[in-house]
Amino acid sequence: MQVLAINGSPRKKGNTSTLIHAMLDGAREAGAETTEAHLHTLDMKGCMGCLSCRTRHGICAQKDGLSPYLEMMKTCDAVVIGCPIYMYRICGQMKLFVDRLYSLYPPKEGGGYLTAVPPGKRFALVISQGAPDAEQYQRSIRWLAGMAGTGLGIEEVGRIVHTDSHVLAAGKNRALLEEARAIGRKLVE
Ligand SMILES: Cc1cc2nc3c(=O)[nH]c(=O)nc-3n(C[C@H](O)[C@H](O)[C@H](O)COP(=O)(O)O)c2cc1C
Repeated sequence: MQVLAINGSPRKKGNTSTLIHAMLDGAREAGAETTEAHLHTLDMKGCMGCLSCRTRHGICAQKDGLSPYLEMMKTCDAVVIGCPIYMYRICGQMKLFVDRLYSLYPPKEGGGYLTAVPPGKRFALVISQGAPDAEQYQRSIRWLAGMAGTGLGIEEVGRIVHTDSHVLAAGKNRALLEEARAIGRKLVE
């Protein structure tokens, strides 16, 4: 059982990272092996718009630090997707990742998209934001869950939206950390 975390936060010890790590702890407790892709430190480019993936289904022609993790999206058993909210949207690092996921959406005859991700996988989401209202960025969060998860045929098992991050850091919020660990276990069990 392999769990892949895609971490969009530049801060390796920030709120998003802390919650992702708690989820991965839970997954390991349940017997999984875990891998983390820290997007900010990868030598990674955005989609180059070559459209090669429209004919070579499931394969991104851009070869860089993200390539092994795009491959793992197809082979792993579960995925954790996490990022902070920047400027009312998901942070830029995560948007670059989502654009590259286009390669995992082969075209469907007659219109629409198929998925290059084999069935039976699960995912969980982590969002951290300064604003107090968990509903405030729901459109962006729903979009992320759709593009990186359900749209690819991956089933969601849970999500954490950490609010008021400047008031209570994720690392000091025991209840939230326990919730993250429980979701991590659920990804595997
Ligand atoms: C450039 C930047 C823009 C931000 N924009 C928003 C925002 O629009 N809404 C919000 O609620 N928080 C915003 N924040 C706060 C972060 O979402 C918050 O501090 C979050 O906990 C950071 O996650 P991290 O600890 O994983 O880095 C912003 C922070 C930065 C650095």
